[in-house]
Amino acid sequence: MNFQLTEEHLAVQAAARDFAQKELKPGVIERDSKMQFAHEQVKMMGELGFLGMMVSPEYGGGGMDTLSYVLAMEEISKIDNSCSVLMSVNNSLVCWGVETFGTAEQKRKYLPKLASGEWIGSFCLSEPEAGSDATSQQTTAIDMGDHYLLNGTKNWITNGGSSKLHLVIAQTDASKGHRGINCLIVETSWDGVVIGAKEDKLGIRSSDTHTIMYNDVKVPKENRIGEDGFGFKFAMKTLSGGRIGIAAQALGIAAGAYELAVAYSKERKAFGKEISQHQAIAFKLADMATEIEAARLMVYRAAWLKDRHMEYGTASAMAKLYASQVAMKHTVEAVQIHGGYGFVKEYHVERLMRDAKITQIYEGTSEIQKVVISRDVLAGNLYVPVLGE
Ligand code: CAA
Repeated sequence: MNFQLTEEHLAVQAAARDFAQKELKPGVIERDSKMQFAHEQVKMMGELGFLGMMVSPEYGGGGMDTLSYVLAMEEISKIDNSCSVLMSVNNSLVCWGVETFGTAEQKRKYLPKLASGEWIGSFCLSEPEAGSDATSQQTTAIDMGDHYLLNGTKNWITNGGSSKLHLVIAQTDASKGHRGINCLIVETSWDGVVIGAKEDKLGIRSSDTHTIMYNDVKVPKENRIGEDGFGFKFAMKTLSGGRIGIAAQALGIAAGAYELAVAYSKERKAFGKEISQHQAIAFKLADMATEIEAARLMVYRAAWLKDRHMEYGTASAMAKLYASQVAMKHTVEAVQIHGGYGFVKEYHVERLMRDAKITQIYEGTSEIQKVVISRDVLAGNLYVPVLGE
């Protein structure tokens, strides 16, 4: 086993860290407080290549591997999770979905815009009555011959106020169950696309999460992804990779809170010495470091499997399940180590604690990850690559 990162990986990691510290950190508390979308910073992310990292250079992307993307996600998530969720959805759901399953024309038309950040994408699966139970789509895409007529409502749509392209999952033929579902590429400038109010959230507050309504939207047939009825499998396959991105976000949240806690515990004195010298704090730091490292290995391994085109669905669900638990648990500990200072915005850890919670909810709750993992484990599908493969 080789746990060493390459020069290229280290360069990506350093560039993301530098960007997060210099460009994201200065305004992050204010943006969070005012629910302000980071327009300027998102534009820079596009220019620096963070929004289409894995897209082929043929379509204007970075042509990088999943591990590079994970390393960048981790660094950006230490600071600004509203920006990192935008990055995650754009990279691993929208760009990856279009590049992997789209037609040549769909790729040519949409990927250069998405990879450069000129257009931001949204992944529109969740509905008022279909979150975890993703087959119960109420949004309909009725086949009208040369186009689909799209009607319905989507909830909790990340980038909903800023995106120019939606991947919309909708039911075409309810009698066929999940095989009657399609994924359509919808441009938000089209008639009938209505952006609802922005959600006022516990965490990732400057991420623009909206309800979206589709009222008789005409979607050309050529904007369907894959064969008729492929939409549900498209969503599942895309989410398997997306979960690696959210696992990396959770890892970054935990690691960011840990770094703040270590620095604070070396500055703050109590009972005549730095608090890091008290075993009560040192042991907390030891637990944090150990579990964050375990989460990191799981997240990097899931990325590694994906990069080698090996089965990664279970590994990604495990990485997301565990990293999000670690993020929640250790952001609470980081606040505790900071004492009263941890409870005020200026010290950043309270924001990370609030942000951590969403990693246990979106792209499949922790319970959904357990459904995926238990099914695979019980079916004997837990894939462990062996030497020589
Ligand atoms: N890859 C390929 N195919 C898959 C698959 C995968 N990972 N998972 C399921 N499938 C296939 C199955 O093989 C099956 O196909 P066949 O009938 O041909 O065999 C078909 O899909 C149906 O699968 P299931 O019977 O397993 O479906 P289910 O109804 O039991 O649901 C589930 C499975 C895992 C619970 C699924 O509904 C699920 O993942 N739900 C959570 C949805 C989710 O993650 N939502 C997040 C919203 S997006 C978001 O949050 C983005 C954002 O903005 C941040």
